[in-house]
Amino acid sequence: MAKLTFGVGTSHGPLLMLAPENWDIRTESDKVFPGHPFKGQVYKYDELMALRRNNYLADMNAIETRRKQYDRCQVQLDRLGERLRAESPDVMVILGDDHKEWFLDDKLPAITVFTGDEVVNRGVKGPLHASDSIEEVSRRRHLTEDAIYPCASDLALRIVGQAVEDEFDIATSSVSPQAADGGPKCAGHAFTFIVRRLLQDKPIPMVPIIVNTYYPPNQPSAKRCWNFGQSIARAIKGWGKDTKVAIVASGGLSHFAIDEEFDQRVIAALQANDGEALYREPESLFQSGSSETKCWIMAAGALSDTGRKMDLMDYVPCYRSEAGTGNAMGFATWQ
Ligand SMILES: [Fe+2]
Repeated sequence: MAKLTFGVGTSHGPLLMLAPENWDIRTESDKVFPGHPFKGQVYKYDELMALRRNNYLADMNAIETRRKQYDRCQVQLDRLGERLRAESPDVMVILGDDHKEWFLDDKLPAITVFTGDEVVNRGVKGPLHASDSIEEVSRRRHLTEDAIYPCASDLALRIVGQAVEDEFDIATSSVSPQAADGGPKCAGHAFTFIVRRLLQDKPIPMVPIIVNTYYPPNQPSAKRCWNFGQSIARAIKGWGKDTKVAIVASGGLSHFAIDEEFDQRVIAALQANDGEALYREPESLFQSGSSETKCWIMAAGALSDTGRKMDLMDYVPCYRSEAGTGNAMGFATWQ
């Protein structure tokens, strides 16, 4: 019988791949971002600066602190990779959102299970973006040739079957959408990050589950995510194959306006396996990049009946401005 033996929660934001002195590239994008959700309101960058600027943020945004935070994250990513590779699951169910990498405004499904046999991480000959012409980013992210990542379509179809039985109306996708050049679209960053950074380019068959945490109006609620996680766990349990399965939450925690209080409440609820406390958090806090935290909630729902507790390896708020923008990084396992 298949067993859900391991869980991972990891942030995946660009600050993990960008040297701290270059974080300002992302600060520039914060300045023109139309509205940063923060504690239930939405602010322009200048408004956020007026609201939040203080000595703590000045200190956190100093280059020495940025370097310290970056190094802490790299240590945890290395440890997380080691733990995952040591566990050596046969299949990984990866929960991640899509930043309009696959799905565009013509179609934005709330939850999509990929049921095909492979996805592709597309090689790029030139720099990925103008802002990527930096050695670190290239070293970690830049593939010059396409890499094929095998997918476990048998488990994916089981998850779909269980979802239907559990009355979830989900979308499925069995081939990568077509890119402008006629080839397959690149798998989303939430999925490629796990293979590149944690598995060091040695893929394990995966089931990508694409959750629209990010874009209104059809984002699944925290409760829906928890419950769907439980449905995934039932699918795994009912799979009569002698297989070790890991579940991986990719993304979060709060960004681009960091909210440490919110993160701490979420972490405490995850550690306590307390779904109810997570549902009580208002939807307005799960917006923009912070919405990716719902992938952690889905993973926690899946693991909630396994007796495995979340071990928070580190929580590292990485600020890139005195307006409090950046990305609070979280790294955890359930084992
Ligand atoms: Fe993301």
